Amino acid sequence: MINSINQVKVPNSKQVRFVLGILGRSGYGKSTLAREIISKIHRKIIIDPKHEYHGLIVERPERLIYHVKVSGFSRRMNIVYRPHNEIDFEVGLSVMQKVQCYTLIAEEADKICDPHQINPAFKQITAWGRHDAQSMIWIARSPFEVNPRLREQADVIVSFRQDDLNAVRYMNSRGFDRDVSTLDKFEYATWGEVDVIKKLIGKAETGAKNTDKDP
Ligand SMILES: Nc1ncnc2c1ncn2[C@@H]1O[C@H](COP(=O)(O)OP(=O)(O)O)[C@@H](O)[C@H]1O
Ligand SMILES: [Mg+2]
Repeated sequence: MINSINQVKVPNSKQVRFVLGILGRSGYGKSTLAREIISKIHRKIIIDPKHEYHGLIVERPERLIYHVKVSGFSRRMNIVYRPHNEIDFEVGLSVMQKVQCYTLIAEEADKICDPHQINPAFKQITAWGRHDAQSMIWIARSPFEVNPRLREQADVIVSFRQDDLNAVRYMNSRGFDRDVSTLDKFEYATWGEVDVIKKLIGKAETGAKNTDKDP
């Protein structure tokens, strides 16, 4: 049934597709920035474990299939996925892998992957999603909480303040445009192809143009 999902829309090659990571301490502004960005883009599926997003709340993978396939995934739709258990969570991800032309927002990305393991569908979207016109925004506290693949595949990473010494050292050595240990609340540093999402974060001019593979 899941494999029968049709193409929702032919990918538009002119659209900018990206993987954006958002990192930083709790309470420093990650989700607020994510909400600001997603308010400017169409067709979203948000994995929302903390129940903090508005939109069409979907709790079961069958309903997810219905909304992306049967009823039509319109431009204005914010699908907010809140599965009740691990199985629904994993089935939901395999559904999302087959949807084209949308942005996946993964809150608490460390719950989907850890440094040693990554859900196969999630990995696929991260690495190959651009070919299906899928973009992704993943959100986590520390760079070391998520699988290295997420960092490797990110076009841009935004980081709010980090206090863990290893994380600070690592990120500063990778060329973020500001020292992540000195950021005030709601301030962030950037790394990567900031121009790609210039419109989305409006901070491109100060972004570092670092092309290292693993930020
Ligand atoms: N740029 C900002 N200016 C003022 N308040 C903000 C800003 N960003 C976030 N906040 C507030 O700070 C609190 C924590 O923000 P949130 O985005 O939930 O943080 P995080 O997702 O990193 O835990 C929220 O109450 C939010 O309204
Ligand atoms: Mg948050």
